[in-house]
Amino acid sequence: MTTHHDPRLDAYWMPFTANRQFKQAPRLVVRAEGMHYWTDDGRQILDGVAGLWCVNAGHGRPRIVQAIQQQAAEMDFAPPFQMGHPKAFALAEALTQLAPPGLNRVFFTNSGSEAVETALKMALAYHRVRGEGTRTRLIGRERGYHGVNFGGISVGGIVTNRKQFGAMVAGVDHLRHTHDPARNAFSAGQPEHGAELADDLERLVALHDASTIAAVIVEPIAGSTGVLVPPKGYLQRLRDICTQHGILLIFDEVITGFGRTGQPFAAQTFGVTPDMITAAKGITNGCVPMGAVFVQQAIHDTFMQGPDNAIEFFHGYTYSGHPLACAAGLATLETYADDQLLTRAGTLHDTLAQALHGLRELPHVQDIRHYGLVGGIELASRPGAVGQRAFDVFLDCYAQGVMVRTTGDTIALSPPLIISPEQIGQIVDTVATAIRRVA
Ligand SMILES: Cc1ncc(COP(=O)(O)O)c(C=O)c1O
Repeated sequence: MTTHHDPRLDAYWMPFTANRQFKQAPRLVVRAEGMHYWTDDGRQILDGVAGLWCVNAGHGRPRIVQAIQQQAAEMDFAPPFQMGHPKAFALAEALTQLAPPGLNRVFFTNSGSEAVETALKMALAYHRVRGEGTRTRLIGRERGYHGVNFGGISVGGIVTNRKQFGAMVAGVDHLRHTHDPARNAFSAGQPEHGAELADDLERLVALHDASTIAAVIVEPIAGSTGVLVPPKGYLQRLRDICTQHGILLIFDEVITGFGRTGQPFAAQTFGVTPDMITAAKGITNGCVPMGAVFVQQAIHDTFMQGPDNAIEFFHGYTYSGHPLACAAGLATLETYADDQLLTRAGTLHDTLAQALHGLRELPHVQDIRHYGLVGGIELASRPGAVGQRAFDVFLDCYAQGVMVRTTGDTIALSPPLIISPEQIGQIVDTVATAIRRVA
């Protein structure tokens, strides 16, 4: 292979990237608007992944841009500890209008990973505050992704994200994942089989005793391990078992939040209300980093005891509720409301489904999974080279002018919610061409 080495690219150690490969043939984007990016050499790229599952209203929305500009000029920063600024309260209030009933207290972070750490710490502290401090165990799920901090990788279930980092957080166990291609391949929306996998929680309760378990965290749709849609009845069963044993249920909605599944949150789409929701990404349309934890009021209120001058939860970030993020968040929610974007994925569900299922007969295609405006096309792996076939599809699509994402050998689609049916067609046609071309 010819390699050309540009020393200007050396200093930046890129995240979740094959650094050496990238720097030999960089893919640089320099501008974005609506459904498109533009590359440094002037090519237009259709965005099939909303940046990284975050730019739900499309790029460069004027209201959001103006809100950020104005806020930067008016007040750059406000200290969040023992001080406040009006937009943080306004955004929290506005967010609770979208959340499932009861989840009406909001804690701000700067990323999905931080939202996860915050939710896990809240769960531990909650049980302790109410006198059940033996509940220290956290339960995640195989193939789960909950960001990259220590709590998140501990409850997460992706071996590559865990194996380099030692013992991680102690006292964690995992449910089995719900991926079952033998029974569920090519499901239309939610798979029929697998509700009983939620009974794994009963098994863990029998093993550890409920009195040791603080919380269970799952993604309603697991995104990062290849778009795993919950089997019918699975989430409700998990909810019921948690309720029965006094275990908190946390939905990690970092990718499913803000309209990806046809409702503001997947909790509403699937009709199951957790005790906490972690969110990020679409909260500011990806424009300024921000995450949030939504909490049932009863959990919040449990902390509100002791003398008035006591700090109730010893946790927070310098940039919790940053003014720029709050301004962007408020303008983002207005944009979503004006364009009725948070239910649009529901109306496009069938369009995406039809387009995706048209790929079924292509070579290497092993499964197709989708819900709302999220899709996954799983390819057979090349022997001894997991992920490479899908990565070649990604490169081919990019050369054709469409940005997709891959995880393992699954091609993931999560376009901005403003996408047109024709653009759905363009993305899926491009993927089809690429799949036909790769070996
Ligand atoms: C379900 C889930 N949780 C947490 C995260 C981590 O978010 P961040 O990268 O903002 O830390 C992600 C990121 O993709 C995610 O998909």
